[in-house]
Amino acid sequence: MRLIVDSDGAIDDAAALLWLCGNPDIDIVAVTAVGGSVPAEQAAANLRVILEAAGADDVPVFVGSSPSGPAPRTRRPVTIHGHDGLADVRRPAARRPPETSRSATEALAEYCRDGIGVLALGPMTNLAAAVGSGAMQSAEARLTFMGGSAAAGGNARPSSEANIAHDPAAADTVLRSPWAEPPLMVGLDVTHAATFTEHEFAALMARQTPAAEFLADRLSFYQRNAGMLCAPGETPCHDLVAAMACADPTLLTSELLGVQVDVGGSSAWGATVVDMRPLARRVHKRPGGEEEGNAAGDGTPVRVALEADV
Ligand code: BDR
Ligand code: CA
Repeated sequence: MRLIVDSDGAIDDAAALLWLCGNPDIDIVAVTAVGGSVPAEQAAANLRVILEAAGADDVPVFVGSSPSGPAPRTRRPVTIHGHDGLADVRRPAARRPPETSRSATEALAEYCRDGIGVLALGPMTNLAAAVGSGAMQSAEARLTFMGGSAAAGGNARPSSEANIAHDPAAADTVLRSPWAEPPLMVGLDVTHAATFTEHEFAALMARQTPAAEFLADRLSFYQRNAGMLCAPGETPCHDLVAAMACADPTLLTSELLGVQVDVGGSSAWGATVVDMRPLARRVHKRPGGEEEGNAAGDGTPVRVALEADV
C-alpha cells in the first residue's frame, strides 16, 4: 500500500510512523508536516528525526502550515508531548533537512494519485489547502484520519478531539470533499479503547532496537501526561491505532454515518457531530451481501470506527 502521511510530529505520531516503516506491506512515499501539538516547522524537524530512527532516511518530509485559529484551551499544566513535541529528550540533529523544493500542499497534490492512501495524524490544515487549491485529485485517493469522536466526548475541549479542535474549518472542508470512498474516521471511541497498558510498555522496554529505545523514552513521558483521560494504567496511542487501521481496516468495527463538524464557535466548537439515531444507522444489504449503513443521517457520509479489536 502506497501512503502519504500528514502529521504534527508528536509522540504517538512517532509510534505510528515507526510501526508503518516496519510494515513490509506499506510504502510511505512522503510525509507532510502540519502544525498541531507544535508548529509546522518543529513538526517537520521532529518527523525527520522519527524517520531516521525508523531507518527511513530516504522518505522526504515537506513543511506545511499551522492552524491559524486559536489553539484549543486546555487545563493541563504541561503539554502532553513536551515543548518540542517529542518529550524534550536531548537528541542529535537529523542527518537530512526537510525538503524545500515544494510545500506540503504541493506535495500532497502531487503524490495523491491513483490508489494512493492519505493518512492524516494531525489537524487537517494542509489537506484542506491541498483540496482547496484544486490541484489535489482527492476523488482518486482514500483518506484515513485520526480525529473526532462519536460518543466518547473530547480531549482538547469537553466535546472535541484535539486534531479537529485545532482547525474545525479545515476538517469540515476535507470531509466534504469527494474522496474515492467515505473517509475512515479513527476517533477517541477506538483510541481510548485500544490503549497501551503496562503489558505493552514492558514488551517495548524489553526490546533493544534503536526504534524501540527511541519510542520507549518518549512514550514514558507521554504516559505520565496522557493517561489521565483513560482507565487507570492505560495510555492512548491515538495515531498508532489510526495507522494500524489504515493498513487493516478490519481491526475496527465501523459504520457509515453522517458526520458534521461544529465550526460555529460554540462550546462544542470542533466537535464531530455523528448522527447515530437509529433511523440514520439503518443497515441494508449491498448486492454483494456486505452489510452497510446507509448514512441517511445528517452530515457527510464518513466511515466511523466505533469499536476496536483490542
Ligand atoms: C491527537 O492529538 C495529538 O496530540 C496526537 O498526536 C493525536 O494525533 C489526539 O487527540
Ligand atoms: Ca498527531
